[in-house]
Amino acid sequence: MASFSSTHCRSYSHSYSYSSSTNGGQNQRFAFSSSFPRLPVPAKAKVFLQSQRNSHQNAVLMQDGAVATKANPVEKETPLKKLKDELLSATSSDEWDEKAGFDINGNESTVSITVVGASGDLAKKKIFPALFALYYEDCLPKHFTIYGYARSKMTDAELRNMVSKTLTCRIDKRENCVEKMDQFLKRCFYHSGQYDSEENFSQLDKKLKEHEDGRVSNRLFYLSIPPNIFIDAVKCASLSASSGNGWTRVIVEKPFGRDSESSAALTKALKQYLDEDQIFRIDHYLGKELVENLSVLRFSNLIFEPLWSRQYIRNVQLIFSEDFGTEGRGGYFDHYGIIRDIMQNHLLQILALFAMETPVSLDAEDIRNEKVKVLRSMRPLQLEDVVIGQYKSHTKGGVTYPAYTDDKTVPKDSLTPTFAAAALFIDNARWDGVPFLMKAGKALHNKRAEIRVQFRHVPGHLYNRNFGTDIDRATNELVIRVQPDEAIYLKINNKVPGLGMRLDRSNLNLHYAARYSKEIPDAYERLLLDAIEGERRLFIRSDELDAAWSLFTPVLKELEEKKIIPEYYPYGSRGPVGAHYLAAKYNVRWGDLGVDQ
Ligand code: BG6
Repeated sequence: MASFSSTHCRSYSHSYSYSSSTNGGQNQRFAFSSSFPRLPVPAKAKVFLQSQRNSHQNAVLMQDGAVATKANPVEKETPLKKLKDELLSATSSDEWDEKAGFDINGNESTVSITVVGASGDLAKKKIFPALFALYYEDCLPKHFTIYGYARSKMTDAELRNMVSKTLTCRIDKRENCVEKMDQFLKRCFYHSGQYDSEENFSQLDKKLKEHEDGRVSNRLFYLSIPPNIFIDAVKCASLSASSGNGWTRVIVEKPFGRDSESSAALTKALKQYLDEDQIFRIDHYLGKELVENLSVLRFSNLIFEPLWSRQYIRNVQLIFSEDFGTEGRGGYFDHYGIIRDIMQNHLLQILALFAMETPVSLDAEDIRNEKVKVLRSMRPLQLEDVVIGQYKSHTKGGVTYPAYTDDKTVPKDSLTPTFAAAALFIDNARWDGVPFLMKAGKALHNKRAEIRVQFRHVPGHLYNRNFGTDIDRATNELVIRVQPDEAIYLKINNKVPGLGMRLDRSNLNLHYAARYSKEIPDAYERLLLDAIEGERRLFIRSDELDAAWSLFTPVLKELEEKKIIPEYYPYGSRGPVGAHYLAAKYNVRWGDLGVDQ
């Protein structure tokens, strides 16, 4: 095993690792990292690193003694490249260790993470557990403090108690889990305050300073609060609790508005208090392992990229389904509906990554530039290319499942869609005429998120006789199953062994659970780590957001103005039949509904 990595928690733009699988799952792993490894630092390098940090405020000392920095897109012979070469040519790590926690010019740095809205569901279910998982994996900086901030009165001990209930070590019986939890909880504190009180944020600032203890202070605020109080909280955090000498970053959760205008207003308001590069707009689907893998699959395998166009691809399907309704979230959901909740962000982001041109580099700005380009090449969605549905009550096996409008927080006459199917088109040379079909729904028969790529028919008639009449069933299909049970499989035609000539469809199957023994990190872990490291690749830039809203805003308005009635489908069913007609209009069959999915 050869490994050159400063920390086993990677940093995407800083490390490139290659792992080959010829030995039954025992990976040979070759990792190259350009985040600064545990090597001696020449004096002049220290000065340079310091100035890097001062100018970009992006160096963080990790728990294992490594330093993560935002990688600059430097490729030519620059001082940074030279420095990296110098560092990488050195071999001993002892000198580095002697420094007892790498310290640039005597200033250690610290990261304070404040979860604003600490008693909410997202914080409890996702944010604190993700932070703990990062801590468990030694991915957090050596000096860090976590603060919960919310209106309710709570002591530190009560916060710890609340947080401890949701922490798990993901895989049972992991080593030192209980001790690690204890250590983690000791780093968690609570501050009670109003979201619009500068005074309360100043008090928080004071407490943070005590923990920071004179080190360079980096501050990350995670806004896990309803959109109507976003701006107040950003204002107060920015004016009263920003870092004085390090970076300050703010993670914001969707909804980023509900149409082009409100989104633009939100962006404008945020930018009164923050620079664009301080704003980390999260779309947690971008943190999912298989979504992250999309670019790898495409750009690092020769066999895929040449096929990735209208020449070989017949249609692309982006499918999201959940087997439960809006339980408990009806109040929020009714204001947004499934198009805003899932399509305009999660599915569209996947589409952009799937369809973008090859970026100049893996740098965040290069990738986001390509995503914006593809989004801007798309036609705004037309009303005739949308089908909407809403689930109704259904009784099965003696159990009655509620209708969407049975939720007490939802108006009885609500027309809000809980299901939608849509056909989108990219008007560029690569994708001209290829339907990108989206389908998203709640209270359906299963829970799943996947990308399906249906290829064109094989030209000629050589084996048509063996396929029978259903030529569609014989086309290749690549399926990227984002969740659950992550997998990538390619449906191919294969000869059934025997003396005759019978063909069937079989899967070339990369099933993650069988192939990789390591558990897959939660999307929030990846994204939180990226935000700490200043890696913006998986966060949404404001022009991406504008482009995304431009595609959906007209149709959303039309649906609301015309009061289009959704097609009702029973809870737990496969959704409205209208989705099939929409697909059929473009000669498409939904891949998830066939017999051999
Ligand atoms: C959220 C939506 O963004 O994503 C929810 O608001 C949805 O309605 C959730 O349930 C799905 O996320 P995941 O990771 O569970 O697929």
